[in-house]
Amino acid sequence: MDIKNLTDDFGVEVRNFDCSKKIGYDELNLLKKTIQDRHFICFKNQKLDGNTLATFTKNFGKLEAYPEKDKTKGKIEIFNVSNVSEDGEHLDPDDQRVVLQKNNSRWHTDSSYRYLPSVFSILYGQETLPPEVEGGQTQFSNMLVAYDHLPEDKKNLLQPLHQVHSYNDIRRLEPSLPELTYEEKCNFPPVTHPIVRVHADRNFRKSLYFTSNTSLEIGGMSLEQGKELHKWLVDYISQPKFCYTHNWQKNDLIMWDNRVLLHRVIPYDYAKYRRAMIRGTVEGEVPVLGPFSYEVRSKNKIKI
Ligand SMILES: [Fe+2]
Repeated sequence: MDIKNLTDDFGVEVRNFDCSKKIGYDELNLLKKTIQDRHFICFKNQKLDGNTLATFTKNFGKLEAYPEKDKTKGKIEIFNVSNVSEDGEHLDPDDQRVVLQKNNSRWHTDSSYRYLPSVFSILYGQETLPPEVEGGQTQFSNMLVAYDHLPEDKKNLLQPLHQVHSYNDIRRLEPSLPELTYEEKCNFPPVTHPIVRVHADRNFRKSLYFTSNTSLEIGGMSLEQGKELHKWLVDYISQPKFCYTHNWQKNDLIMWDNRVLLHRVIPYDYAKYRRAMIRGTVEGEVPVLGPFSYEVRSKNKIKI
């Protein structure tokens, strides 16, 4: 396996490694250490299907299931992140599956609407846009570095705040999406997470943790104040010095750490170009800790 850094702060590219094969103990440990230290891995030239992607994903934890029951025809744990149906049909830009992709052009971290948000997402590019075309890239922003560079007054302001995250509220941003069923709503009630996330597995280092693709409300603020602060955060973390933009090549497999990176897809011409990807997601096992969480305040007692 050949590993090369992509930026100074995060990201590596891996060549000469086959993710469809059983992974040895030492190789898996190296990959776990690499994703922990560098947060993003691109494995070049992979040959995967839903089954081998699921097997690869399970090396890193349990597979997370899709939140809506009838939106996928295949394995419920392998999501289609595409404007192409499972039967290969190029979907209309107004199709709800494409509208969900458009919503992902807002900065977010996957499944933040869960009390235990996902740890890793693993995305395989089956069909990608021609390299000369605008859009279709996946962009990442490093929340550990973004937090470190915040001015002190902003750190103090953000320290006690929580954002609301609601799967149902995607409908407020994308009103053409159909209502969730009562059961789906009950399964995913709104949750709040601290905007300053504390990482017990990183010596209690802090990062930013927020999204733009669900709710924009911030607890303890009026809706307008919350939106204003949210907009400031979006502009702040979009600065190129925090970001890496992944230009897709067919058969890339990318893996990222949702705890410390935000991501978004750069919009493209959904009617003209096909973009077909499948994703495995590693379920989270711990809640998001903030500066005032009991576990952080009593950190000598914490077990991780
Ligand atoms: Fe995403």
